[in-house]
Amino acid sequence: MKFFVDSADLNAIAALNDIGLVDGVTTNPSIIAKSGRDFKDVIAEICKITEGHVSAEVVATDAEGMIAEGRHLRKIADNVCVKLPLTMEGLKACNTLSREGTPTNVTLCFSPNQALLAAKCGATYISPFIGRLDDITLDGLELIEDIRTIYDNYGFETEILAASIRNVNHVKDCALIGADVITAPPAVIENLSKHVLTDKGLEAFMKDWAATGQSIL
Ligand code: G3P
Repeated sequence: MKFFVDSADLNAIAALNDIGLVDGVTTNPSIIAKSGRDFKDVIAEICKITEGHVSAEVVATDAEGMIAEGRHLRKIADNVCVKLPLTMEGLKACNTLSREGTPTNVTLCFSPNQALLAAKCGATYISPFIGRLDDITLDGLELIEDIRTIYDNYGFETEILAASIRNVNHVKDCALIGADVITAPPAVIENLSKHVLTDKGLEAFMKDWAATGQSIL
């Protein structure tokens, strides 16, 4: 499973990258707005932290505009992945850009049929949003399961990039289902390491070791 960081926080991305937990980064217009940074500058800086794909989302809504923006974004760095909304115009742009060899991430996916279209249009990644489905009492993980079944039925190479990940259980369940990638905020990735029994066990080890009066170095 690949881990992508869903953030434009350079310090957080670098810290996770130092541990080997960054296979890529995803951003979207809301994440960029929250960063307060210039879009192209922050994407360029992220692309220097990781060699993995860095998703940069177009903001045009027509295919011609998306293609032009995508080609422009690709000039920032070789590992820029063009993020496109799951609309007919976005799928048209995906088909063109993918044929040019541009990595594409089709986003705002909320149904298996949408994911099927993205795969047929050559998307590198499909981004189904788990949390936003859960938010309206639907089952986000069921969508991941359905896409996994459909893609495996036909051997589609599009990678399932599970997004809108809100907690560690989403990560576990995506791993059990077989999502190719999860993209999550830095805090969720950090929380994956935490368990109360680990903390208690380490505390007991340190206490018992201290009582020996020994040192390793
Ligand atoms: O990559 C998509 C992700 O940023 C959306 O997450 O929590 O805004 O639904 P969220």
